[in-house]
Amino acid sequence: MLNGRRILLIIGGGIAAYKALELIREIRRAGGSVTPVITRGGAQFVTPLSAAALAEAKAYTDLFDLTDEAEMGHIRLSRSADLVVVCPASADLLAKMAAGLADDLATTLLLATDKPVLAAPAMNVRMWEHAATVANIAILKGRGITIIEPDVGAMACGETGPGRLAEVPRLMEAITAALGAGVLQGRHILVTAGPTHEPIDPVRYIANRSSGKQGFALAGALAALGARVTLVAGPVALTTPPGVVRVDVETAQQMAAAVAAALPADAAVMVAAVADWRTEAAPAKIKKDGNGPPALALHENPDILASLAKGPMRPRLVVGFAAETSDVIAHAQAKLARKGCDLIVANDVSGDVMGGDRNLVHLVSAAGVETLPEAPKSAIAHALAARIAGLLNG
Ligand code: CTP
Repeated sequence: MLNGRRILLIIGGGIAAYKALELIREIRRAGGSVTPVITRGGAQFVTPLSAAALAEAKAYTDLFDLTDEAEMGHIRLSRSADLVVVCPASADLLAKMAAGLADDLATTLLLATDKPVLAAPAMNVRMWEHAATVANIAILKGRGITIIEPDVGAMACGETGPGRLAEVPRLMEAITAALGAGVLQGRHILVTAGPTHEPIDPVRYIANRSSGKQGFALAGALAALGARVTLVAGPVALTTPPGVVRVDVETAQQMAAAVAAALPADAAVMVAAVADWRTEAAPAKIKKDGNGPPALALHENPDILASLAKGPMRPRLVVGFAAETSDVIAHAQAKLARKGCDLIVANDVSGDVMGGDRNLVHLVSAAGVETLPEAPKSAIAHALAARIAGLLNG
């Protein structure tokens, strides 16, 4: 997917720097080339020799001397690539980028480049959440630099929280998306994800259980294949995948309106767990008055998927999801017909799929039923994205 694409990889300091070596290998496997640049801090964790060996190219460091300058000036080096990737981006390196400092080779290249820049931060959770870092990230985003949000999890320092370098598949997704190198180039794909919340009063709501993880992963995987992705998201605690345009909504009616506003699209993939019913929201918190629970009059929500599949603006490919707790295939087949879509991705949610990281799905279409092997939601997302690309591209 990265055939012939050139990436200037700036390896900053931090324990996560070893993952940059894995990234070099993945970029090369995808057909891209890498010129590694290692900061002084980065060189404490990985050696220029290992980066150069994996890249099969010269690795530049601060020892970039006059001989190098004669071979390849730093301005030319900064522009010789199609994309600049900073991985890992330490708090210090991000601060220097935000301030426009140029006191070593990496920061000089970053200031001199005219190419898109991706930065994958990795640091201790307190450093990531510090007001200074938050402000620096905002400045960098404002300048059009793509930040590959760190993962949440246990860190080498023993603390837990956001700050772990994104895993290599997500870094690769961001790189392919930034280079617009995929097979879905020029396609617009609409994805819905997460639950909807239907307010009962200002503090209570009706909702379906959904973490949004599968839909967000799919939106990211589609963007990684080059699609322009509009992600209509219900209330979830997830970061937007790189290259994805996100529209936040709360209720099913808002989701229906956002979907209509995002048309036309080449494909629509409705992963959202839309609440089937809504009620008239009380303007103030309903108090317990001793007369028992209030009676809620429920109204059916619009079926966003069915209206889209049967409407005048129908995308060429319409994919639905079906989360079932029994007779998974039979229910999915019934939904396929009832909703008028081309494919239903069905899964059994009687276990701990909801909110979990793994999934097992069946692809149900007029052509039959195919079961994908159980896998992490990110891997399922890539498999589905490839399938969608195949269907769209015939
Ligand atoms: N869906 C939708 N709008 C709704 C309800 C569902 O767009 N109001 C979409 C979901 O995003 C999903 C598919 O329809 O892609 C199936 O959702 P599901 O909740 O399983 O279907 P329901 O029609 O609600 O069927 P039931 O609750 O009877 O299983």
